[in-house]
Amino acid sequence: MKRAGVIGWPVDHSLSPVLHGYWLKQYGIEGSYEKIPAAPEDFTSTIQRLRDEGFSGVNCTVPHKEAAFALADERKLAAKISGAVNLLVFRENGVEGHNTDGFGLQHSLREGLHGDLVGKKAVLLGAGGAARGGILALNALRAEEIYILNRHPDRAKSLALELENALRDVQEPHHTCTPKMIGSGFEDWKRVAQDAELLVNTTSAGMSGNLPLELDLAALPPAAAVCDIVYNPLETDLLKRAKARGHRTIDGLGMLMYQAAPSFEAFFGTFPHVDNGLRAALVDALAHRT
Ligand code: ATR
Repeated sequence: MKRAGVIGWPVDHSLSPVLHGYWLKQYGIEGSYEKIPAAPEDFTSTIQRLRDEGFSGVNCTVPHKEAAFALADERKLAAKISGAVNLLVFRENGVEGHNTDGFGLQHSLREGLHGDLVGKKAVLLGAGGAARGGILALNALRAEEIYILNRHPDRAKSLALELENALRDVQEPHHTCTPKMIGSGFEDWKRVAQDAELLVNTTSAGMSGNLPLELDLAALPPAAAVCDIVYNPLETDLLKRAKARGHRTIDGLGMLMYQAAPSFEAFFGTFPHVDNGLRAALVDALAHRT
């Protein structure tokens, strides 16, 4: 029986067991996906124990994503760009470090937009860890321009510079060019919103317990889509206002579902399908989360 799990501290709130449990049942795979609590000081020894016990790998959540990055013997590109690892795959000759967040957002956006962003402009809010996955997703969807707006503009400017260079060095063969990336502050919002195809929030504003994002959506063209990667609450204030203005909206559950698919494949050997039953299971789990 294949074994995998999610390691975190605390780990009780993780929705990963719901995702993997759903797919294990759907595909009739004999496997287990466990919650593994581990304090930061026990992270390395816990990973060693799991390897000794024959686990296929683990997902890593707060606060272990940087420690997982440091521990990996080999780091895939998205992990390097993110500086964080959410999937460790145990191989005979070492531990592989992946980051699947950008992949998750890419596929959620592709589904919500019914296509990619070739020749289009996207505005991404935020310049933290989550913004890095966001930029990877927009790059994979082949956006032409990415405006990164952040409360502290300097963070956005340095992130734009860093990722434009990093992605230029590793562009996949079918990509003709790297998107142009421009970092600035929220004061530029009205100007950059005008011909945007997509707005993506990667800030933590709007998350339950945090202040909502202050952003006037009037500047956004009616045809633009609005995505929030926050899924707690599922309908953030930003998405509510976007919906009221008639924009297409993409919530954070899509990214959560799709980011788990490569992990499931690495652990259990089948690339799973994201469907409405899975969404319903997550909505139910969120509603019952304390
Ligand atoms: P994460 O790894 O989740 O991205 P982070 O690195 O702490 O977390 O980044 C949080 C992001 O949310 C940052 O872009 C932060 O803006 P600053 O860099 O200016 O601090 C942004 N953020 C948090 N609260 C915000 C708010 N109320 N309004 C706008 N941006 C906010």
